[in-house]
Amino acid sequence: MKQAAVLKQKQLSLLRRKHVLLGQQPHIKYVPHSKQSQFHAAGAESKERLFLAGNRCGKTFCGAFEMVVHLTGFYPPWWCGKRYDKPIQGWAASITAEMTRDIVQRTYLDFIHPDLIVRKTMRKGVSDALDVLHVRHISGGTSVLGFKSFDQGREKFQGTSRHFIHLDEEPDMAIYEECLMRTLDVGGSLILTMTPLKGMTDVCAHYMEGSDPHRAIVQATWDDALHLESAEKDKLRSSLRPHELEAREKGIPSLGRGKVYTVKEADITCEPFELPPTYRHAFGMDFGWSNPTAVVWGALDPETDILYLYDSYARSEQTPAQHAASIHTRGEWIPGVCDPAGQSQSQHDGKSLMEVYSQQGLYLTQADNGVEAGLMAVLERMRTGRLKVFNTLEGWWQEFRLYRRDENGRIVKRSDHLMDATRYLVMSGLPLARPAPAARKTAPVRKRDWTTL
Ligand SMILES: Nc1ncnc2c1ncn2[C@@H]1O[C@H](COP(=O)(O)OP(=O)(O)OP(=O)(O)O)[C@@H](O)[C@H]1O
Ligand SMILES: [Mg+2]
Repeated sequence: MKQAAVLKQKQLSLLRRKHVLLGQQPHIKYVPHSKQSQFHAAGAESKERLFLAGNRCGKTFCGAFEMVVHLTGFYPPWWCGKRYDKPIQGWAASITAEMTRDIVQRTYLDFIHPDLIVRKTMRKGVSDALDVLHVRHISGGTSVLGFKSFDQGREKFQGTSRHFIHLDEEPDMAIYEECLMRTLDVGGSLILTMTPLKGMTDVCAHYMEGSDPHRAIVQATWDDALHLESAEKDKLRSSLRPHELEAREKGIPSLGRGKVYTVKEADITCEPFELPPTYRHAFGMDFGWSNPTAVVWGALDPETDILYLYDSYARSEQTPAQHAASIHTRGEWIPGVCDPAGQSQSQHDGKSLMEVYSQQGLYLTQADNGVEAGLMAVLERMRTGRLKVFNTLEGWWQEFRLYRRDENGRIVKRSDHLMDATRYLVMSGLPLARPAPAARKTAPVRKRDWTTL
């Protein structure tokens, strides 16, 4: 008994020392890259989170680290995600028992200092696989982590409430929903870290085809994974078959009937540059309330007819005055074209949205909303090298990667507001585009973060 109390004191003093998360292996250090940080931070608001990324992007590492901070209650100083102030009941699971043991369990044990382990029980029938791990929590209590695998079936995920669940790689929807249920009554959280090798499944669609503030998705590609050396990326690339590349490098599910804009990203992306004063500017705008109001700014090089998309904006639940203020910061002189629905959408005072915006000082003209013609005009520009997009427009790229047609060939009308704004700009904005007034500089290039747009 006395021995147990001494051990507990030792564990607590260990926990209060900063190196506690370095784990069994001294080389394990975790400095999250920006997408990993974004993923942790999203936990403050979202009950369900998906880290959808290419292979080797640090998905498991990130999920395991987060579980360990919740188990121990040791939150690093930079932590701005969800916090639990009491010991937690958690689950970690992957596809098979062997994968849970070799990938998830191993990564967790690398992060948890061995002296913090209060007790382990082993899973029957799978050598060295843990069933339950009891971990000392900084409050003095004990957190409990159960290990599971999707091949056990949904029934094995029924039962008790869980504060935090980490699913590594994609489960089927029945298991996902069962896990979500387990977190509901205790205000818990569920994280899913995966590469979308099965294409656009129910689980992917659950995140991508709806907007819910309690659900967050963070996507990462090899370019975000700073720990990957170029040589390693080249080697990985050369070992992949072409149809696997999108999912394994960029974390993009293959999308049913397919992408609307069938071009390679590399062919339309460009580094930001200072826009010359002769370039002609205009913006395209799509209206929304719970869906975002979205704006895309373009500058047309009159000599080459190349349109450069250099800035974008997408924000929900803001008034026209708030949107207009943000739009003005890019240049009050820039004319815009908008969704023609803005002419008829009557406000409670009887004014159309276009009138309201015009009172806010925006020069707006109705765009041609012929959808297929607009899509073809954009695609044609992309294919002929006459539409380039600054690689800093993260929100635009995120929509572009998911913009697709369903099995009936129809455009999937989700997360497509910047795409619509682009279509309006290309169809109707270019004849109106004008150069910056001589005294003014063109809009500066900003690095924008999709989650904070
Ligand atoms: N922030 C980081 N800093 C340093 N190294 C990292 C970081 N994140 C991940 N790593 C390293 O990158 C490698 C891959 O990480 P991890 O296994 O988490 O990737 P993954 O996306 O889950 O890969 P897989 O697709 O194989 O499941 C690991 O060796 C890990 O040590
Ligand atoms: Mg992994």
